[in-house]
Amino acid sequence: MNKNKFPKGFLWGASTSAYQVEGAAYEDGKKKSQQDILNEEYYNKYGFATAEIASDHYHHYKEDIALMKEMGFTTYRFSISWSRVFPDGVGEVNLKGIEFYHNLIDELLANGIEPIVTIYHYDLPWALIEKYNGWLNRQIVSDFEYYARYIITEFKDKVKYWTTINEQSIIVQYWTKKNYIPEELRSDDQLRYQANHYMNLAHAIACKLVHEIVPGGMVGSAIGYSPVYPLSSRAEDVMAAQNANDLHNTYYLDIYFKGIYTKSAMTYLESNGLAPIIEPGDMELIKEGESDFLALNYYLSECAKACSNDGQRRFMGVNITGVKGAIDGFERQPGFYQMCKNPNLDTNDWDWPIDPTGLEYILRDIYTRYNKPLMITENGLGAYDEFTSDGKIHDLYRIDYLRNHIKSVKKAIDYGVEVIAYCPWSAIDLLSTTNGVKKRYGLVYVDRTDEDAKECKRIRKDSFHWYKKVIESNGENLD
Ligand code: BG6
Repeated sequence: MNKNKFPKGFLWGASTSAYQVEGAAYEDGKKKSQQDILNEEYYNKYGFATAEIASDHYHHYKEDIALMKEMGFTTYRFSISWSRVFPDGVGEVNLKGIEFYHNLIDELLANGIEPIVTIYHYDLPWALIEKYNGWLNRQIVSDFEYYARYIITEFKDKVKYWTTINEQSIIVQYWTKKNYIPEELRSDDQLRYQANHYMNLAHAIACKLVHEIVPGGMVGSAIGYSPVYPLSSRAEDVMAAQNANDLHNTYYLDIYFKGIYTKSAMTYLESNGLAPIIEPGDMELIKEGESDFLALNYYLSECAKACSNDGQRRFMGVNITGVKGAIDGFERQPGFYQMCKNPNLDTNDWDWPIDPTGLEYILRDIYTRYNKPLMITENGLGAYDEFTSDGKIHDLYRIDYLRNHIKSVKKAIDYGVEVIAYCPWSAIDLLSTTNGVKKRYGLVYVDRTDEDAKECKRIRKDSFHWYKKVIESNGENLD
């Protein structure tokens, strides 16, 4: 065993996504995305910040990259905003938008930081929602191709690593949080899986495009992945966990790596009227879209128990308030599984279980099954941070979380798993997808609140200094 060593050339960095950091939502030709609209709704309902300014990265990107460089980053994962590049979804390109991404990427490269670009991270141009309800309509596949072809061609000489669609499984699960879905369609659960099928086609097209256009390009999906443990060793609970793993996890990975829909999950969907309509040629296209790696976003593990056939179907709840225990329910798939709280794990304030071992578990499991290189493109602790009177942020809880997860990555590597990158969430504080800016993830503090965007001043957290040492020592010094 190669105890305690990360491979030479291992990529260390962190991640963000466009709408969660950039701001400048209506500047330089950018038009609305569905996230601009959804976040306006959260603002009106809960008082959370909108995406209009977010962390103002659009205006601070040079300073942010200087901070990344100071930490020793060798990579940075971010996404391109579709509606900044094509404000109307398709048609005329916004040259100012393209210029921004050239500047960003050039600045990264000049600082020795390898970009990992996500093509799509929840922020569909609003114009495509207005036109045909976005991912609910098959037209989205060709419009996605139009956008993806453009950016892949534009940045082909600067970007080697591409991830396609961020977290399809999470989009299916948290349907209305990641998509704008008209009120009257929200209860039609088949649409979740139909939209996912269109995403599978879009993903395959993007993989083909990267292979066709980018010299030496590598591409894969970024999946939100949580192992599902049985609540007890009762055979029924173990079976329920298997069912949940099939529908939550394998259903996606089998598409990326085998070009098939997992039989058990598909059988469940079919017998419940939830299966996607698949047109002739779709599965062939999916097979052709080969992935070179899998990008994993890991935060937590889940737990399942047996579930009777009767009763209502429901999907995973969220905790809006940030008070432990306020989660509004767990997913339930009648006759298949019931998700539940794992009594063995503590959670953060938003009820996300903290489970470093789960990361080693999935790295080993996925690598054993698919034998492809793995990147960690998200991993982090959402927490309330305090800007203390000494002008600092002592986020020891975050250091603890990251340290334990990095140890798990190390262990997986010791067992032969090929992990090529570790990018925690997030490089700087940003707008959470469901909880405003008070739920913080960054290594760098962004001085703003949900109520007041202030100057968005950047301040190094304790985790910043700690991560710098981790990178300097190639993961050996975790103290
Ligand atoms: C991942 C997403 O699911 O989780 C990110 O890719 C998101 O966009 C992160 O920010 C944390 O979730 P949240 O809801 O706390 O922002």
